Amino acid sequence: MTQTPPVADWSSDYDIFDSSYVNDPYSIWAVLRDECPIAHTDRWGGSWLPTRYEDVTAIARDIEKFPSGYGIGVLPVAPASGDSEQPMLLPYGVPPISSDPPLHTWTRRLLLPWMSPQRTETYEAMTRDLCNRLIDSFIENGSADAAVDYAQQIPVRVIAHILGVPESMSETFTGWVRDTLEFAYDEERRRRGVIGIVQFFVEALKERHENPGDDLISELLMTDVDGEKIDEGVILGMCGLLLIAGVDTTWSSIGSSLWHIASHPQDRQRLVNEPDLMPTAVEELLRAYSPVTMARRLGEDAEYNGCPMKKGERILMNFPGANRDPEIFENPDEVILDRQHNRHVAFGAGIHRCAGSNLARMELRVAIETWIQRIPDFEIADAGGVTWAGGQVRGPRLLPVRFPSQG
Ligand code: HEM
Repeated sequence: MTQTPPVADWSSDYDIFDSSYVNDPYSIWAVLRDECPIAHTDRWGGSWLPTRYEDVTAIARDIEKFPSGYGIGVLPVAPASGDSEQPMLLPYGVPPISSDPPLHTWTRRLLLPWMSPQRTETYEAMTRDLCNRLIDSFIENGSADAAVDYAQQIPVRVIAHILGVPESMSETFTGWVRDTLEFAYDEERRRRGVIGIVQFFVEALKERHENPGDDLISELLMTDVDGEKIDEGVILGMCGLLLIAGVDTTWSSIGSSLWHIASHPQDRQRLVNEPDLMPTAVEELLRAYSPVTMARRLGEDAEYNGCPMKKGERILMNFPGANRDPEIFENPDEVILDRQHNRHVAFGAGIHRCAGSNLARMELRVAIETWIQRIPDFEIADAGGVTWAGGQVRGPRLLPVRFPSQG
């Protein structure tokens, strides 16, 4: 494990793993947007950080110049994570997110029906039931960790259900996903996470060959593309992606939303009194606390708006920063639960725009709604006890809250 030196100049030496960035990236982006809208750093293999909406969305849409096939992680990757730097265990990466057309096109097409609005509706009852069960387990205590006991528990179980994996695997899945994404300084831990996920799905594929069900893995194994079965290396990557993309992201959004509501009593009261606000509130919380920063890695030198970008460098797809751009959003640092014009890019832009956005929105809405209905009056119990993860996915990891005991 190595710690990096403190940042002296954010425009030429930024570090998204620096604790000041993890705790408050917003004020850093605000300065950069005015002074150096596309910052650069040599750290972590070299990368560029656009902070304006216009640049982030233009880069996301330019898949020729900024492909995904050379790597999408914000860090040089641990072996086997699907980045083309280390393609051994996942020879096709984690499509569609880590691929360019044509692999991107047909793998995305295969996933979309599983996350359509109609299909998502069928997962809503189990999600609500799950949220209620979780709340039952702590409501009598008058306190809980809203991240650990609640937010973290929800998306992993929904995705396990879609993949046809027992709910009892949830804790293990969560550990692997966290190991893969969260621990920038610990390469060994990241490697462990990826290997855990790959080995699990290798076994799951074998098992589904023998006992096919009506789950996504079984369907992928039975699907023909251009008259041929899908290479199992592709299926392995797709399953790994769903786990990684579907778990940390949504749990971080649920956690950040509950953090906001717990620390802004007026907004909490509005949500209690005006439940019809939920659709705009969900979008606004997604905008203001967008969790996901992706990356593109250059296969050759490129130039964008005068920035000389070198082969092998990353461009950080700063969707969270784009969503705080005052050129696009009035009072961007304010959470306005009934904000009307809200074309946020929390789910990305262009061909890689999130395939799971319907599912994510449903989980976020149901998780907040259920919490507010059952625990309308709650607050942060210990502000010093709140911790945030940063990097690829930002969200609270410890969130102690208290509320009147309902025992
Ligand atoms: C609040 C929760 C979520 C957020 C903020 C989010 C964000 C994103 C973003 C920004 C991208 C674009 C990546 C890029 O440009 O490289 C993306 C792609 C993707 N997401 Fe999500 N995501 C969320 C939840 C989910 C869920 C629940 C699933 C499914 C289980 C999912 C599946 C995917 C997939 C498959 C892609 C790749 C799409 C493609 O490459 O065509 N995401 N997500």
